[in-house]
Amino acid sequence: MMYEDIESVLIDRNAIQARIKEMAAQLEKDYRGESVVMICILRGASVFFCDLVRELDLDVRFEFMSVSSYGAGTTSSGEVRIVKDINTPLADRNVIIVEDIIDSGNTLSYLKRLLEQRNPKSLKICALLDKPSRRKVELKGDYVGFTVEDKFLVGYGLDYAEKYRNLKDICVLKPEIYQK
Ligand code: PRP
Repeated sequence: MMYEDIESVLIDRNAIQARIKEMAAQLEKDYRGESVVMICILRGASVFFCDLVRELDLDVRFEFMSVSSYGAGTTSSGEVRIVKDINTPLADRNVIIVEDIIDSGNTLSYLKRLLEQRNPKSLKICALLDKPSRRKVELKGDYVGFTVEDKFLVGYGLDYAEKYRNLKDICVLKPEIYQK
């Protein structure tokens, strides 16, 4: 039923899982022998986070943060608000922020600045998707799954009006759905 609103599948479930395995292999190589605090940014990253951590043969701790950009609609305004912070100190820890998508870069650039102040041993960004054409602030992901064009994407954690997050594939939404 939900696929009725879908124009096309951009990245199918097999391609997503294959890329996650590659990303996990890279992370294992880079963090071998270290412990890592992985911070899932709710809610979009939750699906990617769950799949990624289960591929990792590393000493991993889970943390969850919730942030929201001010303003409604399909673009973020640049202002970021922390809805739920973490309690764990990050000093001298390896920290990886896990996100579903880097769009304008506002959310991650704010988060990076915030978490740097807590003096982690290292701080990296791991994002499944990157839309560089939408960037408003300079921000680079350290681990990026796929670089994508500026299309309205849903599924695999990504929503439109809180729907479609549970689709297994990353899909292009039919314009008539969000132009209504
Ligand atoms: C999305 C995404 C990132 C942010 C990226 O979250 O998960 O956090 O937007 O956009 P930016 O690079 O322009 O800041 P959203 O605010 O839609 O919340 P959600 O994760 O709950 O869907």
